[in-house]
Amino acid sequence: MRIPASILTLLAGMALVLTGLWVGQNVNLLPAQASANAPVYDELFKVLFSIGTILFVGIVGLIVYSLARFRRRAGETGDGLAIEGNLPLEILWTAIPAVVVLFVGIYSYDIYDRMGGMTPLNDHSMHAMAGSEERTWGGISPVSLDGDPAIAPLPVDVTAMQFAFIFHYPDSDITSGELHVPVGQPVALQMKALDVIHAFWVPQFRLKQDVIPGQPTLLSFTPTRPGQYPIVCAELCGPYHGGMRSSVIVEEPESFAAWVAKNSPAASATTTAVQS
Ligand code: CUA
Repeated sequence: MRIPASILTLLAGMALVLTGLWVGQNVNLLPAQASANAPVYDELFKVLFSIGTILFVGIVGLIVYSLARFRRRAGETGDGLAIEGNLPLEILWTAIPAVVVLFVGIYSYDIYDRMGGMTPLNDHSMHAMAGSEERTWGGISPVSLDGDPAIAPLPVDVTAMQFAFIFHYPDSDITSGELHVPVGQPVALQMKALDVIHAFWVPQFRLKQDVIPGQPTLLSFTPTRPGQYPIVCAELCGPYHGGMRSSVIVEEPESFAAWVAKNSPAASATTTAVQS
C-alpha cells in the first residue's frame, strides 16, 4: 500500500515545525542573562530562532530533495514540464509569510514595550542636567519590569567619544572608565556623544542604545547577576571603533558602596577633613 503524497507532506511539515520549536527552546546561543530585560528579550529570541530554524531546514531540505528527485536522468534531452501559475499555492505562500511577519512585528513591539521602550522619556526627569531642560530623544525608561518602583534608579551620565566611554556618577561625583553598578537596583544611563554616533551595547544585558551627538538618549536596566561584562561600541565610529570597549562590573550593594566610598572625591575630602 502506498501512502498518499499529501499525508507524507503533512507529516514532514509537522516534523519540521516540532523540530523548529524544539531547537528554539533547547539550543541556547545567547550569553548569560545579567539584567531584568534579558529573560524578556530571550523569549522573543526563542520564537525568532524557532521560525528561522523551520524556514532554514524547510527551504534547504526542499532544495536538496528537489536536486536529487528531479535531476536529469541519463538519456533525458527534452524540456521540463511547463507549469504556469497555481493560484491557491500563490495565495498560500503569500498569506503564511504575511501572518508570520505581522506576528513577529506585533510580538517585538510587545517585548519592547515590556522592556520600557514605549514609556514616555521626558515625564520623569530623574536628574535634570545642570540648569538645562534638555530633551531626551530616545531610549528605554525605567519601568515596573525593573522591580520595585520605590527603588530610585541610580543615575549615571555616559559620555561617548572617539574612542571611549566615560561614566560620571552625579550623586557621588565619581568619574570612571568602567561602569560599576549594584545588583538589583535600576540604573538610568543618560547618554551623550561628543563627536559621532556610537552605540552602547552590553550583550549580557540584551541592551543596545545609540549615543548620538546633540540628542541625549536614555538607557535603563536592572542588573540581576554579579559579574564583569563587556561594554561594546556597536556603531562604526572611526578607525579604532573595534577597540572602543569597556566593562560593566555588577557587584553586591555592599561592595558597590565600598567602591563609591573609595572613589568619591567628596568622600575622600571628608575623610581628609576629619583626619586633619
Ligand atoms: Cu564608538 Cu564605535
